[in-house]
Amino acid sequence: MSLTPKQIDEQVLDWLAEARTRIVADMQMPLQVNEKTNARDLVTNVDREIEQYYVQQIHTLMPEAQIISEEGYGDHVSSMMGDVWYIDPIDGTLNFVEQRAEFATMLALYHDGEPVCAWIMDVMQNDIIHGGPALGVFKNNASLPVPMNKVLADGLMVVSGARLIANQMGLPQVSQQALGFRVYGSAGISFMHVLEGRAIGYMSKMKPWDFAPGAALAKSFGLMISDIDGEPLNMLLSNSVVVSTPNAHEQIMRIEKQTNGVEAGTDIRL
Ligand code: IPD
Ligand code: CA
Ligand code: CA
Repeated sequence: MSLTPKQIDEQVLDWLAEARTRIVADMQMPLQVNEKTNARDLVTNVDREIEQYYVQQIHTLMPEAQIISEEGYGDHVSSMMGDVWYIDPIDGTLNFVEQRAEFATMLALYHDGEPVCAWIMDVMQNDIIHGGPALGVFKNNASLPVPMNKVLADGLMVVSGARLIANQMGLPQVSQQALGFRVYGSAGISFMHVLEGRAIGYMSKMKPWDFAPGAALAKSFGLMISDIDGEPLNMLLSNSVVVSTPNAHEQIMRIEKQTNGVEAGTDIRL
């Protein structure tokens, strides 16, 4: 790669500023909303526009790179070799449509399967958590402190609400043992809570574009990230993701063994 992580970071921060301007302008007009798999799984004209914008920018910056993205403007990627970008143009589209808040836009860049840089923007708060292993982790311009290594009883767990009520991933047991649990409806916003130390962990089944940015930033911080069996995440497939402080991760893995990955009620609306 000829560009340094710092140069890439600065470039993408410009894209995010432009994406935010476009999203906020689009929100002044009626949204075109379509269902994908069900009434909770939506895509809007804004998701499509912003994904296309990022794809064009990536093609110009790194023409050889492959792109894994949600709305179909990326590539069919079957290997993590070389430069691989992830795009989730609007993460938390249901929040975007219903609340006009609590949604994110996010990207990540990996090289040969290892994180280089990642960006999660809380669009309405205009906050960006970004960085990577070589850069450190920042909230806007300020370096973020590494979250305290708390145990479950001392912190809040962020969980998928749909999977909690369907008794999946051992979520009732984990939520029970935590100080409290929270549901935000956006993977990006959920990762931000963990990265800022406002929550000790987040668990949900996610697609690669949902977890790749948060995973890159969590790794840069020494947080633990794995699937519910403690195995490394497959960066090309859906995974049942656990990200947390090291102490909470150890406890969660014990709970997962006890509940034996209970997967009741798999037919749920997410
Ligand atoms: C969704 C949100 C949600 C999570 C879903 C994701 P989208 O992303 O992050 O919190 O529970 O699994 O699909 O579809 O709004 O980009
Ligand atoms: Ca999305
Ligand atoms: Ca998403």
